[in-house]
Amino acid sequence: MADLATDTAGIQSPNPFWIASGPPGNSLRQVRLAFEAGWGGVVWKTVGGPVIDTANRYGGLDIYGRKLVGLNNIELISDRPTDVNLAEIAQAKAEFPDRAVIISLMVETEREAWHEIVKRAEQTGADGFELNFGCPHGMSERNMGAAVGQVPEYIEMITSWVKEVATIPVLVKLTPNITNIESGALAAKAGGADGVSAINTINSIIGLDLDTWETRPSVDGKGSHGGYAGPAVKPIALHMVSSIAHNPELSGLPISGIGGAHTWQDVAEFMLLGASTVQVCTAIMHHGFRLVGELETGLSNYLDSRGLASVRDLIGGSVERITNFGDFDLNYQVRAKIDPVDCIGCGKCIEVCRDNQVDCIDWATGTLNIGRIAEVDQTECIGCDLCSIVCPVENCITMEPQERTLAPMSWNQLNAEIGVPGSCANTSDITWEEFPTLIEGKVDSHGMDNPSTADVPALDA
Ligand SMILES: Cc1cc2nc3c(=O)[nH]c(=O)nc-3n(C[C@H](O)[C@H](O)[C@H](O)COP(=O)(O)O)c2cc1C
Ligand code: SF4
Ligand code: SF4
Repeated sequence: MADLATDTAGIQSPNPFWIASGPPGNSLRQVRLAFEAGWGGVVWKTVGGPVIDTANRYGGLDIYGRKLVGLNNIELISDRPTDVNLAEIAQAKAEFPDRAVIISLMVETEREAWHEIVKRAEQTGADGFELNFGCPHGMSERNMGAAVGQVPEYIEMITSWVKEVATIPVLVKLTPNITNIESGALAAKAGGADGVSAINTINSIIGLDLDTWETRPSVDGKGSHGGYAGPAVKPIALHMVSSIAHNPELSGLPISGIGGAHTWQDVAEFMLLGASTVQVCTAIMHHGFRLVGELETGLSNYLDSRGLASVRDLIGGSVERITNFGDFDLNYQVRAKIDPVDCIGCGKCIEVCRDNQVDCIDWATGTLNIGRIAEVDQTECIGCDLCSIVCPVENCITMEPQERTLAPMSWNQLNAEIGVPGSCANTSDITWEEFPTLIEGKVDSHGMDNPSTADVPALDA
C-alpha cells in the first residue's frame, strides 16, 4: 500500500487530509473524534480576540436538488476563550503526537499583540501556525482577516512580526478576494512565511428568500455578504493553487490546498497542482468526520493502481501542464464522435450545437423511425467539446484526436514567424483566405466560411 505520509513546510502528517480552520476544529472533543476517524491534521478554528456570533450564520446553495453545493457563512473566529483553546490544543497534541496540529491565529495589527499570541500559543507544543489573513466578513470590518490579506504590504509586515518570535513553521492563509493571489503569496514569502494555505472563503451573497426579500442567512431580517465555500468553489481554488505553484518566484514554497475538497479525486487534483496537504471544511460540515475513510481508501487505491509508492509523488505533477493560451498548438484538432449504440436520442447535443456552435449534429439518416440516433458532420465540427459535456450518457460522445496534416503551430509562433492578418503585434501580408492553409480547419469552419455570413452583403471598407 502506498505511503500517505506527507510534509508541508516541515509539518509532518501521516496523511494529506487536514481539517481546515472552521467549525469542525473548534474543540478538543471534536478533534479527538476527527483524529480517531483518521484525519492527519487539524488547523484549529482561528484563535484570537473575543467575538460573539450571530444566529443564523450559514446559507446553503442547493442546485437541482443536490444539497450544499456551496456554503456561505458569516461566522467569526473561535468564540471560545483563547486560554481554553490553547489548553485544549496542548491536550490534543499530547494525545495524538503523530498528527499535525496547527493553530490558526488572528489578532489586531499590532506587533506586540502578534508577539504575545505567538509566544503563548507555542507553549502548546503545536506543529505550526496558520495566519488567518482571509476571512472576508466580520473580522475584516475590524481591520483583520481579508482586510490584511488584500494588502500585500500588511501580509509581509505581520508575517515578519510573527517570524521574529515563532520557532515553528508559519503558513499564511491567503484570501481569494484579491485580483491576483500570487501577490499575496509573494508578500508572505517576503515576510518569511514557510508556506501558504489557499484559499479562504470567497465574498458572496448566497441568495434571497423571495417571500420575505431577506438575504440568506438572515439575522432578524438583516443580511450581509459572507464567505463562500464548498464544492462549487473548487475550480477557483485549484486555479489559485496552481498559479502559486507555477510562479517561478514562489518555486518550492509549500502549499496547503483548500476549497471545495470533498472526494479523494479532489485531493489528488489539489496535490497534482502543487499542494502537499489538502484541507477540508464544508464537506465535513456536510458529511461528518467519517468522510476521511473514503478519502484514504480512494487515494490509496488510486496510488496503488498507478504504481506510485508515495502520495508525495503526486505533488506538482500537473503544474507544468498549465501554460499560456499563446503556446497552445492550434493545429491540434479533435472532433466529436457519437456512439450509435449508447445514444438514447434525447436531442440535447443537436440543440446545443445548433444554438451555440456550428449546427453540425443531426439525426442520422434513416434512424428517425427506428429510435433516433444523433450523428456529427465531421467536416463541420470544430471540436469545441460542448455536446460531449451536455450529453446525459457518459462516454456516448467522445472527442477524437484527428490525424495531423500540418506541423504544430501556436499563436505565439504565428505572430513571431509569420504574422497574423490584421494583428496589431505583427501585421503580415498574409490574408485571412490564406490562413486555413496554416491553421488546420479552424478559420475555415468557424470564422471565414461560416454559413450564416454567406448571404450577408459585405460592409464598405
Ligand atoms: C462556517 C465556516 C467557518 C470558517 N471559519 C474559519 C476560521 O475561523 N478561520 C479560517 O481561517 N477559515 C475559516 N473558514 C474557511 C475554511 O477554513 C476554508 O478556507 C473554506 O471553507 C474553504 O474550504 P471548504 O470549501 O472545504 O469549506 C471557515 C469556513 C466555514 C464554512
Ligand atoms: S445528447 Fe447524447 S444521447 Fe442525446 S442525442 Fe446527443 S448523443 Fe444521443
Ligand atoms: S464538438 Fe462542438 S461543434 Fe462539434 S459537434 Fe459537438 S457541439 Fe458541435
